[in-house]
Amino acid sequence: MEKISYKDLQCNPFTLVNRMMLLTAGNEEVGYNVMTISWGNFGMLWDKPVATIYVRPSRHTMNFLNKCDQFTLSVLSDDYKKHLAYCGTVSGVRQDKFAGAGLTPVCEGKCTYVGEAELVFKCRKLYVDPLDKKKFIDKEVFEKNYESGDIHILFIGEIEEVLVANDKYLQK
Ligand SMILES: Cc1cc2nc3c(=O)[nH]c(=O)nc-3n(C[C@H](O)[C@H](O)[C@H](O)COP(=O)(O)O)c2cc1C
Repeated sequence: MEKISYKDLQCNPFTLVNRMMLLTAGNEEVGYNVMTISWGNFGMLWDKPVATIYVRPSRHTMNFLNKCDQFTLSVLSDDYKKHLAYCGTVSGVRQDKFAGAGLTPVCEGKCTYVGEAELVFKCRKLYVDPLDKKKFIDKEVFEKNYESGDIHILFIGEIEEVLVANDKYLQK
């Protein structure tokens, strides 16, 4: 994959997240796990390009997010919808989800990403915070999403590297 600047990206941040991405946390040393996400944000904070993700504590991936400073976000083409559905419904507690999904883990430095991705964000954790019931202005949002608890923890990561496999996401 080719390394590019985040400034050269051409994409809609809303649809990019909402059409599903794969979050991978961990590395060769401690192990790794992958899961589907469709909630998140891209933007600027503290003069840095950042990605924010929201992960429920019950996810097996959380163990690796807690252990490691890095995580990656991999964007795959629509050909991989079934793979993303698998990673979004199966837990990695007892199985290797990369193998189960038929995806390739690429361990590079302190992080791991999905080899089949068209676009990869390598992120370094800057800020971690559990969402707090008391701080919801719109209580309906809380009731609708957290009836059973398992309240998301947000992770803000600095985007340290952007990799592309082709020119689909490059500014023309
Ligand atoms: C389309 C889709 C989007 C999802 N988005 C999120 C998300 O943003 N945050 C989250 O915690 N779980 C999300 N999930 C659920 C996890 O991907 C799912 O629970 C997964 O099996 C967790 O895997 P793990 O236990 O191996 O970490 C999503 C699932 C799907 C199908």
